[in-house]
Amino acid sequence: MSKKIIIAIDGYSSCGKSTLAKALARKLNYNFIDTGAMYRAITLYFIRNNVRLDEPESVTEALKNVNLHFEFNEEKGKSDMFLNDENVEQYIREMTIAQKVSEVAAIKAVRVSAVKQQQLMGKKKGVVMDGRDIGTVVFPNAELKIFMTADIEIRVKRRFLEMQEQNQNVNIEDVISNLQMRDYIDSNREESPLRQAEDARVLNNSDMSQEQQLNLALKWVEEVLSTKKEMAR
Ligand code: DC
Repeated sequence: MSKKIIIAIDGYSSCGKSTLAKALARKLNYNFIDTGAMYRAITLYFIRNNVRLDEPESVTEALKNVNLHFEFNEEKGKSDMFLNDENVEQYIREMTIAQKVSEVAAIKAVRVSAVKQQQLMGKKKGVVMDGRDIGTVVFPNAELKIFMTADIEIRVKRRFLEMQEQNQNVNIEDVISNLQMRDYIDSNREESPLRQAEDARVLNNSDMSQEQQLNLALKWVEEVLSTKKEMAR
């Protein structure tokens, strides 16, 4: 029996999902898949090509021309997102994308296309995937599901610092309103809204260091693996 599992990490924007997912993947020698980057790259394509979001045919046609893949970046210790063979990492983290991505990610055809690719990427297991619907829709049978939360003030501060580090010129009010808007759209959309899977373990990291979060998640991985072993006996 394979010892590799699927680890699904869901939660609101800027809860530290990617940081934990990346650390877990490195420790376990798993692939880290940042599904938000996929929705961001699709959004970039739609903006660049003036795709009308209220025209389903235009969206479907546009999606046929969107090819996404990840390539591991040794320096960063994580994969970069490629859109039609162009490395788009630096563009997809910009505020213009953050302002539009929740709207794009709420479109059914967009989700169907992204979820299909995500399921293929996790087929062989050994993945840590973070997003909004990983434990509920993409991998409802994931062996370990983590639902991350953090106080809003902490999330705002993290996001603001992250954008400053990337030399993005934003003010804190814009960050607050963007997070609130995305929380609202992500949790209230019709198609696979963000929600906690019933069997998810909640990790509120408001008062936790990155090391503490990693240790707790590794403890959960150990528990899952030993239960798996027991059941195989
Ligand atoms: O994790 P992130 O902030 O990069 O995600 C960007 C947006 O993509 C987020 O506002 C909601 C959407 N998203 C989604 O709907 N489903 C996912 N699995 C991942 C992201």
